[in-house]
Amino acid sequence: MQLSKMALSLGQSATLRLNELANNLKAEGKPVIHLGGGEPEEKIPDGAYAASLKKLDSRYVRYTATSGVADLKAGIAAYTEKHYGMRPAAGNIVVSSGAKQAIYNFLLSVVNPDDEVIFPAPYWVSYPEMVRMAGGEPVIIRPEPGTVVPTLEQFKAAFNQHTKAVMLNSPNNPSGAVFSEDFIKGLVELCERCGVWLMMDDIYNRLVFDGKKAPSAFAFSKKPPDESIIVSINGVSKTFSMTGFRIGWSVAQAPLTKAMVKVQAQVTSCPSALSQAAAAGALAESGEFVEKLRKGLEGKRDVMVAELAKLKKVKLHKPQGTFYSFPDFSAYDKDSTKLSNMLLEKAMVVAVPGVEFGLEGHLRLSYCGAEKDIIEGVSRIRKVLD
Ligand SMILES: Cc1ncc(COP(=O)(O)O)c(C=O)c1O
Repeated sequence: MQLSKMALSLGQSATLRLNELANNLKAEGKPVIHLGGGEPEEKIPDGAYAASLKKLDSRYVRYTATSGVADLKAGIAAYTEKHYGMRPAAGNIVVSSGAKQAIYNFLLSVVNPDDEVIFPAPYWVSYPEMVRMAGGEPVIIRPEPGTVVPTLEQFKAAFNQHTKAVMLNSPNNPSGAVFSEDFIKGLVELCERCGVWLMMDDIYNRLVFDGKKAPSAFAFSKKPPDESIIVSINGVSKTFSMTGFRIGWSVAQAPLTKAMVKVQAQVTSCPSALSQAAAAGALAESGEFVEKLRKGLEGKRDVMVAELAKLKKVKLHKPQGTFYSFPDFSAYDKDSTKLSNMLLEKAMVVAVPGVEFGLEGHLRLSYCGAEKDIIEGVSRIRKVLD
């Protein structure tokens, strides 16, 4: 019995594999410290809890409209207007089973065989495989050595007649870098001029530090919403600490949204009704929850930066957002997979190899867990390496 070429060609998600490994080691009673995680440790917002219970109490948990329930879409419209300066209509929104599905809906709706999709390294681990699954060709823009953010000139140089879309995640998983206003403005102009889709992965967009904000692409668009090339991907997973609910969404022009709804209808019918109720409850909250989470992460970012500074040969671009740091460990070992395996074996610390994000020599160390784990984890790494 043969598997498909596509299935055979797919790599395993390194982050999910390491997550499982860390959980298994913990279950075996090993003193493992997991600095490879991708979710905040906070409990869900009260509003999400109350709305889920109310939905369960109704005893009716059915299919919903493919693109999501009206309540949640209204919440998303208000949220998008408040934080991104653009008010989408219901026909611009598709609620999905996580931001991941929203990204895949987008790619399946725009990519033809051999179309090129450009994104910078370091990138979120799923981007290359998702582009390939949609039949496209990933085109990766690598930053100059010593930096973690490529320039607009590099993007311009990569554009050609096969370019179908650009995918940008700001702030970035894994580097925590926020792309500048000039960069976003230039990229919006470039994509509008060339008729190329610009997918903004805004999943960490409110988790930004030092009194700054991540620029919104919508602010620089010259097109009316229903002709816009911008597709904003968002969700409750990270900002509301609701990864297990699996609710994300896209905001895009109506014709693309219709195509994405058709794709989703054939794949999952609709996102979970219970989770949609919970997400609507989260979005109806005042904003205090996100601010508390953001502030807590900023404090943990400072702890991570201070601990990493104690290592003799680590270079770090201070993360400006998210809950990841992406230090350069190449002075210790250029092979990040070897280094990650060695740290797991000798220090019992889980760190994700940078090569999985397209930049060798780095490790991704998360600071979404307990502060004592950040301190103990980095100190164990130091004992092994220095
Ligand atoms: C950059 C980025 N985009 C999208 C996602 C997917 O989010 P969700 O859990 O809502 O599918 C993640 C999750 O780790 C991510 O890091």
